Amino acid sequence: MTNAYDAAYARALDDPDGFWGEAAEALVWTRKWDKVLDDSGAPIYRWFTGGELNTCYNCLDRHVDEGNGARTALIYDSPVTGGTQRKYSYLQLRDEVAKFAGVLAAQGVGKGDRVIIYMPMVPEAAIAMLACARLGAIHSVVFGGFASNELAVRIDDAAPKAIVSATCGIEVNRVLEYMPLLQGAIDLAKHKPDTVIILSRPECAVDLASYGYLDWATEAAKAAPHDCVPVAATDPLYILYTSGTTGEPKGVVRDNGGHAVALKWSMKNVYDADPGDVYWAASDVGWVVGHSYIVYAPLLQGCTTIFYEGKPVGTPDAGAFWRVIADHKVKILFTAPTAFRAIKKEDPNGEFLKKYDMSSFKMLFLAGERTDPPTLDWAEKTLGVPVIDHWWQTETGWAIASNCMGLHRFPVKAGSPTKPCPGWNVQVLNEETHEPVKPGEIGAICVKLPMPPSSLPTLWNADKRFREAYLNEYPGYYKTADAGVFDEDGYISIMARTDDIINVAGHRLSTGGMEEVLAAHPDVAECAVIGVADELKGQLPVGFLVLKAGVTKDAAEIVNEVVQLVRQRIGPVAAFKQATVVPRLPKTRSGKILRGTMQKIADNEQWKMPATIDDPAILDEITSALKDIGYGASRKA
Ligand code: COA
Ligand code: AMP
Repeated sequence: MTNAYDAAYARALDDPDGFWGEAAEALVWTRKWDKVLDDSGAPIYRWFTGGELNTCYNCLDRHVDEGNGARTALIYDSPVTGGTQRKYSYLQLRDEVAKFAGVLAAQGVGKGDRVIIYMPMVPEAAIAMLACARLGAIHSVVFGGFASNELAVRIDDAAPKAIVSATCGIEVNRVLEYMPLLQGAIDLAKHKPDTVIILSRPECAVDLASYGYLDWATEAAKAAPHDCVPVAATDPLYILYTSGTTGEPKGVVRDNGGHAVALKWSMKNVYDADPGDVYWAASDVGWVVGHSYIVYAPLLQGCTTIFYEGKPVGTPDAGAFWRVIADHKVKILFTAPTAFRAIKKEDPNGEFLKKYDMSSFKMLFLAGERTDPPTLDWAEKTLGVPVIDHWWQTETGWAIASNCMGLHRFPVKAGSPTKPCPGWNVQVLNEETHEPVKPGEIGAICVKLPMPPSSLPTLWNADKRFREAYLNEYPGYYKTADAGVFDEDGYISIMARTDDIINVAGHRLSTGGMEEVLAAHPDVAECAVIGVADELKGQLPVGFLVLKAGVTKDAAEIVNEVVQLVRQRIGPVAAFKQATVVPRLPKTRSGKILRGTMQKIADNEQWKMPATIDDPAILDEITSALKDIGYGASRKA
């Protein structure tokens, strides 16, 4: 028996031109495409070649032009600034964006130019992103929790004409001054931007002229509003850097046309969100969830999006999410499971929920990491609404697998994000034979090419790296770098990463990147970083240091120094707080560090002595070092 999901899934694979061509009709194009799926450059596929549109027009102006200008586009809700709330109608947001596009244009920013946006969760972050889209400029948002060095790496790779930032961010009750971070990054970077535009926040006054920076408000007051510039569907809308397998981040490129089509389609079909619905993604604009589901998709669909500058707990309490839902009549909430684990820890019986009118609330979507069954169970019981785990990546821009709530609601199976979304030909392959495995067998999750619209066409200035990282290993497929398994009913479960990426509080981090920082410490000869299981954040990094011969400094002091070093070089978001000094690292005879085995020991899981291990006694040393910092057998004892 087929349902709307089965029909859509089959059609998207059998007739991608028909399926996505129809979805594209929901947008306003200034020139219709020549081809829906362009396979002339396979295995690099492009969508809607020949077409022209403007993403900002489709997010804002079209709603105004269609008579919906008075509808609320964006609500800013900021418990960290004493409960500030600000609403923008579609008309107001369009005007603000047009004005800021005028500011950027006056500074010489135009089509194809890059603009780095390093901002906290304030509406101006969305205004800057949409202003770039309006001009056909390419934005690259950098998460505020990254330190100067990470920002500098991105400045050098994207070579922005302008940087847009703010005087500070606010973490719960701490004001984080951005100027030292920003200036530090610009000093470190080889590329220098022509212009830096700063949003002055009342919480942190800065003499911008002394830096040679422009003040957002002053420039906006004299700017002429700028109209939308049509761009090719295949032109980049943004670059979003994400952790790769080394310290060098990957610049994921998103195009304009495919992105707008897939995201708009997803709003109804995946999330069951209609124009006018209040849709809240409690994430940060620095992550892909923020790009897709705080800014672009809700606005493409004519929904109201929430910009929340706060945390699930501590701003002021574990009822914060319920307060926002009640205040703004949120229908759909999207966040990471870690946020729910934080709430559950503080309010296990859901007492705070009783204080709020949750009648508007219909669905909770979770992503960023696997939704662990206890969290799913707690959320379902406490909230009494469907709780939908869905799986995706920065590279894809939208869900690869989900219970598609606008198509057909499948029964939820704990631990599984249900089935591949229409357009995604997901296969679990044997890592050696590259053949699909049977249901129940674990393997490498790959997507048979072509991938649907919105998935990355390449990495910024790095076509070769794109092919090497994603396409070469399994010819004809995109390698997700996740391992997983299909069950007999076609439900997929995501089990682990196959590379060195770890997931800390829903944030994607590279242990390789952290190892590069540890290795730079003058006393460290060799090192390894692994992700260990953590009840709240899912995973936490732990470092192992082998010191250079002759080092006499206290081990605790070195540990403290490397912790500070990671914070300075990568940023607080790495949550790197634990390291231990060991005499040696366990390796295979060919010299590969046995990180997987170390992780199993740390998590107190069963492990087998690797046949290729160089010296089994080293694992005893690792076990003992882990025990000293509270991991391994001592943990659950
Ligand atoms: N700017 C500057 N610093 C930031 C930051 C930002 N935007 N976001 C986080 N940080 C800092 C935190 O203050 C913390 O610093 P500390 O070591 O001095 O305490 C550090 O980075 C680690 O942050 P995080 O891992 O987020 O931990 P937390 O204790 O602040 O909060 C949660 C824990 C679970 C409440 C939080 O991670 C959360 O709300 N997650 C929700 C989901 C989410 O955003 N997922 C993203 C993808 S969907
Ligand atoms: P990011 O690019 O930051 O969105 O991180 C993507 C990675 O997070 C994926 O490759 C997975 O490893 C993990 N991930 C995201 N969502 C899920 C999910 N629902 N279940 C399991 N893992 C997930």
